[in-house]
Amino acid sequence: MKFYNYCSWYILFLINIISARDWLIDKISDVTTLTKTPLGTLLLSNTLISREFLIEPDFATIDFRDLHATNSSILRCVKPESIITLDGIEYNIGGVIPNTQCAYFNRTDFWKNKAIDTKAFHFSTYEVGKPKAPFAYTPKRSAPADIEWPPKGVHLSVYFKAPYYAPLSHKYVTVVVNYEMYDGIPLLVKWLDIIDTSGRGDIDLSFNSVELLAVNQPWSPFGESWLYVENNQSPGHGTNILWTYDVEVNTIPGSFPPLVNCTYQTDHELVVTLGTQLSSFRVHELVIGSSNVERVALSKHRLFRLLAPHTQENPIFFHMINGSSSAVRAVIDQMAEVGFEMLIYSFGSGFDMESNDEKYIKQITSDIAYATSKGIEVGGYDLIALTRDVGPAWMAIDPDTGKPRDNACFASGWYDYLLNRTLTFMDRTGLMMVETDGPYGGYSCASTTHSHHRNNDDSIYQQNLLQANYFKILRERSVYINQPDYYFYQGGSKTGMGYNEEQYSLPRWMDISVSRQGMFDDTYQRIPTVGWMFVPLTVYQGGGDAAQFEPLVAHQIEYEWALAQYLGAGVAACYRGYRLYDTDATKALVTKWVHFYKKYRPILIRDIIHVRRADMQSIDSYMHVDPYSKDIKGLAMVFNPTSDTVNTNLVVPLYYTGLTDIAQISEQENTWKNYTLARDYHIDLPISLPPLGITWFLIK
Ligand SMILES: *[C@@H]1O[C@H](CO)[C@@H](O)[C@H](O)[C@H]1NC(C)=O
Ligand SMILES: *[C@@H]1O[C@H](CO)[C@@H](O)[C@H](O)[C@H]1NC(C)=O
Ligand SMILES: *[C@@H]1O[C@H](CO)[C@@H](O)[C@H](O)[C@H]1NC(C)=O
Ligand SMILES: *[C@@H]1O[C@H](CO)[C@@H](O)[C@H](O)[C@H]1NC(C)=O
Ligand SMILES: *[C@@H]1O[C@H](CO)[C@@H](O)[C@H](O)[C@H]1NC(C)=O
Ligand SMILES: *[C@@H]1O[C@H](CO)[C@@H](O)[C@H](O)[C@H]1NC(C)=O
Repeated sequence: MKFYNYCSWYILFLINIISARDWLIDKISDVTTLTKTPLGTLLLSNTLISREFLIEPDFATIDFRDLHATNSSILRCVKPESIITLDGIEYNIGGVIPNTQCAYFNRTDFWKNKAIDTKAFHFSTYEVGKPKAPFAYTPKRSAPADIEWPPKGVHLSVYFKAPYYAPLSHKYVTVVVNYEMYDGIPLLVKWLDIIDTSGRGDIDLSFNSVELLAVNQPWSPFGESWLYVENNQSPGHGTNILWTYDVEVNTIPGSFPPLVNCTYQTDHELVVTLGTQLSSFRVHELVIGSSNVERVALSKHRLFRLLAPHTQENPIFFHMINGSSSAVRAVIDQMAEVGFEMLIYSFGSGFDMESNDEKYIKQITSDIAYATSKGIEVGGYDLIALTRDVGPAWMAIDPDTGKPRDNACFASGWYDYLLNRTLTFMDRTGLMMVETDGPYGGYSCASTTHSHHRNNDDSIYQQNLLQANYFKILRERSVYINQPDYYFYQGGSKTGMGYNEEQYSLPRWMDISVSRQGMFDDTYQRIPTVGWMFVPLTVYQGGGDAAQFEPLVAHQIEYEWALAQYLGAGVAACYRGYRLYDTDATKALVTKWVHFYKKYRPILIRDIIHVRRADMQSIDSYMHVDPYSKDIKGLAMVFNPTSDTVNTNLVVPLYYTGLTDIAQISEQENTWKNYTLARDYHIDLPISLPPLGITWFLIK
C-alpha cells in the first residue's frame, strides 16, 4: 500500500516538472494577488501556492495549497491563527472552532459545524499593501543585477481586537498578523505585531505560537518534509520550529496528524514587557513539494537569496596578520596588483576597533585612505559578546548559579557602548567591514539591573533583538559583516562554510582535499557566497611547515589548487598571512584565478549542482547554474586529484541550467561544441586531465 502511495506522489512530481512550468528554471510572470472569493473568503495566491482565509464569522486559515508540484492541499485542520498570553491569560488569535474530526479536512463538515471561540481575539479588519523591507539595502560589491528589495509581492495585515471577556487593560491591545507572499516563489512569510495604545506599557506578553499549522503527512518531517518551515532568528537562540503529532481530541486514531508549532522555546517561559509595540520573529513557509536533495537545496537557496540578498556580495578578501603600517601598505600594493578587493585586519594583528587612542586612530585612518585610493575596502576583527569579558556590570548572569557567565550581556549597557565605539571608529577611519567574532549566542541573563532587559524571562528576546539591531544598523551603512552565526535575515553577510577548524592544520594536500569535499557537502545547505573557507598561508592553529602554504614559491601546485577550488566554487576564503605572493610565478597564479573569478563572477556566485563528490580516486566536479542567464547558463569545475592521467566521460546533469535540447560547451575558452541532452537532461562530457590537472567548462 505504502509503495503505491509514494509511487503516485513521485509520478505526480515528474508529470508536473515535465509538462508544466518549473519555478526553479522558468521565469514566473504571474504576480501575487489577494482576492475575495464567491464564498466571502480571502485568497492570497501567486499561482505557485495559495492560502485562503475565512473572515466571517471570524478569522482562520482554511486552506494552504501547493499549486506547482503536487497540486494538493497541505492543510489538515483549522487551528487558531496564533496564540499569545497577556498577563497570564492565554488568547487564541482568530476565534473559529472547527468542531469536526481532524484526520483530514472535510470542508462540508467544516462549513456546517464550525463555531465561534468567544474567548479569542476577534477579527476586526485587514489591509493590503506591498512587502516592507526589514532593513534598507542597496546592492554593492558586484551583487547580482536582478536583486529586488524589498521583494515584489503582497503584504496582508490582519487586525484583531480583544474579546468581550478580556480585562479592560487588554482592550487597548491590537494584534496584527502579517503575511507576505512574493512573486514567483512558493513562499509565505508570517509574523505578529502586538500594539498597546493605552500608554501604560505594563502588560506582560508571551508569544506561545506565532504559527500553528495542521498539515498532511507528506509535508511534515514525519513524511517527506515537502513543507520547509524556518524562522528568521538564529537557531538555538530561544526560538523553535516544533513538529509534533497533534494530540487534540478530534484527531482520529489511525490517522497521521502532524502539527507545526512555531514558538519561542527556552529553558524558561518567555515573558516580555509589551511597552507600546513588540514584534515576533518571522516564520518562513516554503512549499517545496519534493524530497529530491538537489531540488530541496535549490529551493531553500532561492528563499535565502530573496530574503537575505546582501549575502550574495562576495568580495575577495585577505586576512592580514601584521597590523604595522608598512606591512599593511605593502600587502595593499600586492592586492591592487592582482585584483583582491578587501583587506581584513585578522585576529592577532593587534587591530582594535574600540580604541580611543588618537595616534592609533590616525594611523588606521591613513592606512585605510591608502587602501581606498587603490580601490580596496578595509575591515577588522573584534570579539563582541560570546567569551568576551566586559567587566562585572555588563556580564551575563547565569540564573542557576547567580554568577557571571563568560559572556557579555547584549541587553546591558555593553550594547550602547559597543555600538558607539563601532560607529565612531567607522565614521573616523572609513572602516567598511567588520569581522564580529563571538556575536550574541543565545544564552540568558538573570541580571535585574541591565538597561535593556527586565530579568531572565525577557533576556534572550531582548539580546536577540539588540544583536539584530546592531547588524541592521551596519547593513544600512553598506558594511560587510562576517559573523560566525546566523544573523543573515538581520544583515549579516558571511559565516564559516561549516568546516572543522582543525582541517586547516592538516598537511596541505589533506587540507585541500578534505576542504573540497566539505564545500561540496556544505553547498547543499549554503549558497556559495555565504560561507568562508580558509587558506593558512602562515600557520593558523597548528600543523607547522607541512600545513602552511608559505613559502609560496615552494608550494605552487597546492597554492593554485586552493585558489582554483575556492574561487571556482564562488566561495571566499580567508587567505591569511602577510603577503599574497613571493615571486613573479606565484603572482601569476593569483592573477590568473582572480581574473577568472572576476570575469565569470555572475555565474560563479550562483548555486552549485553537485556533479561528482571528490573521492580522490578519479575526477570530481561541481557546476554553477543560472537558468535565467541569456548567455552562460552553467560553469563546471573539474579536478583530477590523482597521480594518473584520467580519460573518462563525466555525466553532467543539465536540467537546472534550463537547457532542453542542445548544450553548447567550451572547455575553458577554446572552441564550442554541441551536445544533445538525453531524456533526463544529462550529457556525457569527455574529460582528459593530466595528474593534478584542473579544468573548467562553460555551458550555454
Ligand atoms: C489542480 O487541481 C484543481 C482541483 O483541485 C484543478 O481544478 C486544476 O485544474 C488542477 N491544476 C492542474 C494544473 O492540474
Ligand atoms: C464529510 O462530512 C460530511 C458531513 O458531515 C459527511 O456526510 C461526509 O461523509 C464526510 N466526507 C468524508 C469523505 O469524510
Ligand atoms: C507550542 O509550543 C509551546 C512552547 O513549547 C508550548 O507551550 C505550546 O503548548 C505548544 N502548542 C501546541 C499547540 O502544541
Ligand atoms: C610586521 O611588519 C613590519 C614591517 O614589515 C616588520 O618590521 C615586523 O617585524 C612585522 N611584525 C611581525 C610580528 O612579523
Ligand atoms: C558616542 O558617544 C559620544 C559620547 O557620549 C557621543 O558624543 C557621540 O555622538 C556618540 N557617537 C555615536 C556615533 O553614537
Ligand atoms: C549548435 O547549436 C546551436 C544552438 O542550437 C546552433 O545555433 C549551432 O548552429 C550549432 N552548431 C553546430 C556546429 O552544430
